[in-house]
Amino acid sequence: MTKIALVTGGNKGIGFETVRQLAQQNIKVFLGARNETEGKNAEETLRTESLDVTFIKLDISSSDDIENTRNFIEKQFGKLDILINNAAVFLDSAWFGNNTETVPLKTLRDTFDINYFGTVELTQALLPLLKKSDAGRIVNISSVSGSFGVHLDQSHWLYQLKPYAYSASKTALNQFTVFLANALGDSKIKVNAVNPGWVQTSIGSDQAPLTPQEGAKSGVAMALIDENGPSGTFSQDGEALPW
Ligand SMILES: NC(=O)c1ccc[n+]([C@@H]2O[C@H](COP(=O)([O-])OP(=O)(O)OC[C@H]3O[C@@H](n4cnc5c(N)ncnc54)[C@H](OP(=O)(O)O)[C@@H]3O)[C@@H](O)[C@H]2O)c1
Repeated sequence: MTKIALVTGGNKGIGFETVRQLAQQNIKVFLGARNETEGKNAEETLRTESLDVTFIKLDISSSDDIENTRNFIEKQFGKLDILINNAAVFLDSAWFGNNTETVPLKTLRDTFDINYFGTVELTQALLPLLKKSDAGRIVNISSVSGSFGVHLDQSHWLYQLKPYAYSASKTALNQFTVFLANALGDSKIKVNAVNPGWVQTSIGSDQAPLTPQEGAKSGVAMALIDENGPSGTFSQDGEALPW
């Protein structure tokens, strides 16, 4: 039976490559994007590669879009096998330094609305469809920026980079990962968080060492784990990361 996947923020960057790599595994992939033109262009590009990709208008901070997405997938397939929560924003003024004393509450709220609340609302809405799958997989694209372990380790290269809004939103996403994995412990659904690495995208900048193709690999691998695979973990390239 065909596997069905949804990737949020699939119009560019790591999300776009994730859509491509999943579709290359003969998975039917819904490419979620908030911008209709960009979403359709991305769909078109991947269809010219003979991949089974369908654009779906999905701003994860819109409850209407979330409801439409759930209804659309339910009507067409009645189930969802893979959800990749990739969409996110970086709204802090800079990566470098520590803005915790001054970051405007609006920046915090706007960041959490997408990176955390949008992701949680979408996931909760899609859980009934994921429960209909024989092997539901939820992959949260997190970041080492959200890791307490990294931010307490003075020798870590990220120690000097403490953009508070983005980092806190990813810490909250990690908590969601652990709690949801626990809540679904008796189900066939596995929930994991991955760090893609430092990747050449709008969020990662062109200084980053990894291409989006390389950055998509951790999430794709976690989406394809079998029933013996982990749940409630945080990793990159299969290596555990500190929470
Ligand atoms: N790049 C890195 O070095 C790095 C490192 C660690 C973690 N990550 C994580 O990797 C994921 C992908 O980021 P990226 O690096 O590929 O950055 P990106 O190129 O900026 O992609 C972010 C994607 O999220 C989408 N998005 C933002 N807000 C949205 C919303 N409300 N609804 C739906 N889509 C929305 C963007 O859409 P628009 O085009 O419309 O803005 C875009 O498609 C993010 O979760 C990021 O935190 C990246």
